Amino acid sequence: MDLIALDEPTDAQIRQWHAVLTAVHAADPAGEPPPEAEHTAARLLGAEQGSRQRLWAAAEDGRMVAVAALRLPGAPGAARPGEIDIQVRPGNRRAGVGRRLLTVAADALRADGRPSVIAQVLAGTPAVPFLEAHGFQCVLTLQGLLLRLAEVPPGRIEELVAAGPAGYELVRWRGVVPDGYAEALARAKHAMADLAEYEGAPWDAGRVREMGELVAKRGDELYTVAAVRDGTIAGFTEVVASAGMPGRAAQYDTAVVPEHRGRRLGIWVKAAMLRWLAVERPDVHEIETDNAGDNVHMLAVNEELGFRRLRESREYQASAADLP
Ligand SMILES: CC(C)(COP(=O)(O)OP(=O)(O)OC[C@H]1O[C@@H](n2cnc3c(N)ncnc32)[C@H](O)[C@@H]1OP(=O)(O)O)[C@@H](O)C(=O)NCCC(=O)NCCS
Repeated sequence: MDLIALDEPTDAQIRQWHAVLTAVHAADPAGEPPPEAEHTAARLLGAEQGSRQRLWAAAEDGRMVAVAALRLPGAPGAARPGEIDIQVRPGNRRAGVGRRLLTVAADALRADGRPSVIAQVLAGTPAVPFLEAHGFQCVLTLQGLLLRLAEVPPGRIEELVAAGPAGYELVRWRGVVPDGYAEALARAKHAMADLAEYEGAPWDAGRVREMGELVAKRGDELYTVAAVRDGTIAGFTEVVASAGMPGRAAQYDTAVVPEHRGRRLGIWVKAAMLRWLAVERPDVHEIETDNAGDNVHMLAVNEELGFRRLRESREYQASAADLP
């Protein structure tokens, strides 16, 4: 078994990497659409803005059997955790390959001066005993929900949009936030601060714009609907339609600022988003979202809209010193 660091992956290596992801997905689809080759290539060739990544593969007789990606957000030595993802072909498991990849990634993590690493995995899969055997602890449980738009009863969305609270207006935009709302959106994003434990930097107008630019750079479309009162954003919701996941859009942030809570603004902006997408993106027929397991209000809003539970994912964290 050879371990190879892929600093500049070749086309052949990208194809082999994709074949590993496809084999892992085929063995355990977990309600996810299969990975797309273009998406894999884009990910391997460019780290997200403001982030670096290290890639390794394990090969046997010239065939890739496992891959590992370590994302390092921010500058070297930043307090933010690294993010690790390891995928081993089903036929090559329980032979110590995952452990070897984790060990090289841990060395790179420590060399980068990181205090810890996180991993997002599905509950009930081998990833759970694997991580728990290597110093990781579960820090967050997320319920993965899916809304199939064809299953929403006719008229339901219109009814919810019409039931919006008095004194608020709906505003929407595609892509990067318009200048007039950048500050207001950054303030509203603070309302999510209690959930965004790993986000690090505080939200400001620049960071909000940067997030929109990042989505566009990946070739994805960001849609935002906000409830506005006296020029202030009281609540908002974001959905991203990705070329890498045809037919399925992903819910990004939704938040209602504390002084505007309890007026059904959350369900209102989400219903307005669904009405808009039906016209703007008829190709989107399902929307997926992750909710923190303890966020009972957001779970209730989503279940009222017709989202159904799909899977549970977990975020694990280990301190660099506890890794092999
Ligand atoms: C999780 C995964 C990477 C583990 O890879 P692997 O090469 O099989 O793991 P290893 O052989 O190195 O396992 C090392 C130890 O982890 C634990 N472990 C791994 N898989 C396990 C399982 N299915 N059940 C119980 N313990 C397990 C064991 O303690 C094992 O040591 P042992 O075999 O001596 O008992 C692999 O199952 C996988 O690719 N899963 C799908 C993708 C995924 O969820 N990745 C996790 C993202 S970090």
